[in-house]
Amino acid sequence: MSDRHTAPQSEKKPFLYVVVCAAGIAGDVGKLITAAQEAHWDVGVVATPQGLGFIDATAVEAQTGFPIRSAWRLPGQPRPLPPADAIAVAPATFNTINKWAAGISDTLAVGILCEAYGFGIPTAVLPYLNSAQAAHPAYGRSLARLREMGVLISSYEPHQPAAGGGADLFRWEEALELLTPELAGGG
Ligand SMILES: Cc1cc2nc3c(=O)[nH]c(=O)nc-3n(C[C@H](O)[C@H](O)[C@H](O)COP(=O)(O)O)c2cc1C
Repeated sequence: MSDRHTAPQSEKKPFLYVVVCAAGIAGDVGKLITAAQEAHWDVGVVATPQGLGFIDATAVEAQTGFPIRSAWRLPGQPRPLPPADAIAVAPATFNTINKWAAGISDTLAVGILCEAYGFGIPTAVLPYLNSAQAAHPAYGRSLARLREMGVLISSYEPHQPAAGGGADLFRWEEALELLTPELAGGG
């Protein structure tokens, strides 16, 4: 009988961090978790402090089997999640995208993203914002910087402000489509 703790390395699934920001669509993150688990990933969620208020934490933790991370642990406390093999930032807000590109590491979520570059962890970002936010000059510069850093960026186009959002056009599974070839090619 096999024991989970002594399972051969070949059975270990890759671990995906899903970084969730405070965008209106965040409550549907279970869709990405389901798609990733069906594609044989283990998943842990890291939410921004604001993003925590947009998701059903109990449901997400039940689905992933891991605690949601949002704040830094205290020195000496164990790491609640295994290290990431890949990261999907979905949904990514205007705010988090700009801070990440600028290296302003003031939430655990952005701190993990900033370090991911140095660790060489494949990272995909699915922005979700409106066209008024996207018109700010910082946004285009931030995307260009993230692209230079090797971050994979989804094809979603910002929606019209106050138009009810573009939830129907937001493809959660694009995160996996972007990351899978990276991992197959050894990152
Ligand atoms: C109901 C609601 C919906 C929001 N939706 C978005 C959104 O879709 N995209 C976005 O960039 N900001 C959105 N915001 C603004 C962000 O929540 C705000 O900028 C916040 O500071 C982002 O924090 P975070 O990037 O740390 O998650 C929304 C705010 C509220 C109250």
